[in-house]
Amino acid sequence: MFGLAGGTASNSGALLLRLLAASLIPSLHSTNAGLVSAAGSPYNTYDGEGFPSCYNVSEIHRPKSVDEMVSIVKKVVARDGDKARIRAAGKGHMWYDTMCTDNGTTILIQTEEVAGIYEFDLPEGASEGTVVIDSGVSFFQLAQYLHDRGASVGYTLTNWNISFGGSIAMGAHRSSIREDSMVAAGALWLDIVDGTGEVRHVERDNADDDWLAASTSLGLLGIIARIKLRIYPDTKVYAKQDILDEKVVLDGDIYGLIAPYATANLWYWPYKRKFHHRYYDVVDAKQHPQQGFQNTFSVTAVEAIAARTILDSGKYLPTSNMLAEEIFFGLWSEPNFREKTNNTEIKNWPVYGWNYDVLIGGLYPDQKAQWDYNLRAYTLELAFPIPLANAMLKRVRSLFDAELKKGIVMTSTYRSGINIKFGKPYYDFLGQVTYNTSDGADWSKGVIMFDFPSFKPTVGDKKRFNEKFYTNLANTLIREFPCRPHWTKNTREVFAQSAKHIDPTHLAKFKAVREKFDPRGVYRSVIGEILGLY
Ligand SMILES: Cc1cc2nc3c(=O)[nH]c(=O)nc-3n(C[C@H](O)[C@H](O)[C@H](O)COP(=O)(O)OP(=O)(O)OC[C@H]3O[C@@H](n4cnc5c(N)ncnc54)[C@H](O)[C@@H]3O)c2cc1C
Ligand SMILES: *[C@@H]1O[C@H](CO)[C@@H](O)[C@H](O)[C@H]1NC(C)=O
Ligand SMILES: *[C@@H]1O[C@H](CO)[C@@H](O)[C@H](O)[C@H]1NC(C)=O
Ligand SMILES: *[C@@H]1O[C@H](CO)[C@@H](O)[C@H](O)[C@H]1NC(C)=O
Ligand SMILES: *[C@@H]1O[C@H](CO)[C@@H](O)[C@H](O)[C@H]1NC(C)=O
Ligand SMILES: *[C@@H]1O[C@H](CO)[C@@H](O)[C@H](O)[C@H]1NC(C)=O
Repeated sequence: MFGLAGGTASNSGALLLRLLAASLIPSLHSTNAGLVSAAGSPYNTYDGEGFPSCYNVSEIHRPKSVDEMVSIVKKVVARDGDKARIRAAGKGHMWYDTMCTDNGTTILIQTEEVAGIYEFDLPEGASEGTVVIDSGVSFFQLAQYLHDRGASVGYTLTNWNISFGGSIAMGAHRSSIREDSMVAAGALWLDIVDGTGEVRHVERDNADDDWLAASTSLGLLGIIARIKLRIYPDTKVYAKQDILDEKVVLDGDIYGLIAPYATANLWYWPYKRKFHHRYYDVVDAKQHPQQGFQNTFSVTAVEAIAARTILDSGKYLPTSNMLAEEIFFGLWSEPNFREKTNNTEIKNWPVYGWNYDVLIGGLYPDQKAQWDYNLRAYTLELAFPIPLANAMLKRVRSLFDAELKKGIVMTSTYRSGINIKFGKPYYDFLGQVTYNTSDGADWSKGVIMFDFPSFKPTVGDKKRFNEKFYTNLANTLIREFPCRPHWTKNTREVFAQSAKHIDPTHLAKFKAVREKFDPRGVYRSVIGEILGLY
């Protein structure tokens, strides 16, 4: 997030950060807590202590098989009856306290050790094949397994240390208009442990409400246990990035910037009034020996401390935030890639490499994830119909300008700016990119997502500089535009306000399936409650 590109970045921003950091090397400590198991304890996100995803957890089970999951659910339901509360837990890569219900004590079933990969099937010369995985398998694990066998999952991806079960449950996605990029779009069937402990097998079938609910289930139908996924022959891809003036995007053909590519997105720098335009597509592997590996979230200790120091001072001093955006923009303009074979920095666009390494990559071997250095964020993510893309971004601009008129400079306080993602239409009941809704909006061309992460100060009340700006921005967008929340990247308040934008017919059909799979509401969550599904 706030980490700076690794290695030997030589621009003045990096130099400045290093100078600042040289005088500031206090003791580092990771605040990531282990698993809790005491009665009524909070359970935390990947950010650790102080970042609860669930307030009241009495037991955490770590089954090793789907059969074990089933027996735990059966036992808990037999014992606790209508008071039984169960949620699956994956890798904890969610942002807010929206995993469980507040009504009762929840029992968690951690999927991490249910991580088998089976039935790899991609015949020589075939254009596509399949594989079956347990839901605790992470993107990184499957990518390695598939790459070793000359395959990949294509573009239905999220970041590396996230489980397939958690991604499909919550409607997670990459960014593409041309290709399917909802993780669920890569699934051909799901096995779900329902509210009685029975395993229900749900096949992809758009004429079946069970499938349309299971495709983005929010974990409310039960624990996703096994998934059959589409796979493809592995490919090499290029990554390229351009810098665009703000007005070129705000007044331009945004769809045209994204739709031609396998995957593409924009990063917005509101203080600089610039965008980065990142795009990827397939190349001929034989012509490109380079093996680029993207640095997703890794950072050196020195860089992390420098960034945190500047951003913490930005809680009080907007000039620090302006400086941070300058530095982050400069660093993000250069490739955040290394050559995988010898770990040397790649200096020029385009970068080439294997599908997963280039699209996602991971941590550099000599660095840690930024959150291990106490660089943490708030976030907000809303999806809007593509035909409203220009209007939405202009409205955001006008909110930044309204602050400027008051003499308040607002910036992006995130390593890679404000992430503007896209989604190809994909039909289900609760997904961010669904269509055929009664709101009259044209969702058939796909969506633009406004994903606004921002630094969470480690000092004072932990609120951001000009905190009310962020609340007003969210409220304004939700009030003025048809939009849909990402299901793990928003606060309860954002869900409460945006619930009115979810199609009532979709909600009613989802609720009917929920009542069938989980009649007692064992798997309920605050999101399900806000949506009126209980
Ligand atoms: C650094 C970072 C990068 C991210 N990148 C992206 C991205 O590129 N695109 C995107 O869309 N999202 C992204 N996310 C969000 C992430 O994909 C979702 O929050 C996802 O749900 C996390 O999965 P997890 O395995 O970590 O599950 P957890 O965080 O443990 O759980 C998330 C939710 O899913 C439920 N759940 C987990 N496993 C299952 C299961 N097997 N069955 C039923 N319910 C289950 C949990 O009960 C909980 O409600 C990112 C998050 C972080 C922190
Ligand atoms: C809490 O859950 C119980 C069922 O376990 C239900 O009877 C009660 O109405 C719920 N309370 C609230 C405030 O939702
Ligand atoms: C991935 O997540 C697990 C927790 O599920 C954690 O123990 C591990 O350190 C993480 N790996 C990385 C590289 O962050
Ligand atoms: C947790 O839930 C139990 C059962 O509903 C309740 O008695 C207890 O007060 C709750 N604890 C917290 C910290 O909310
Ligand atoms: C690293 O590997 C790349 C690609 O093979 C090569 O071009 C480069 O010279 C290597 N660098 C070093 C320092 O070995
Ligand atoms: C669109 O919605 C209508 C009414 O709910 C339904 O009959 C139709 O099948 C839907 N179309 C698609 C493509 O799902």
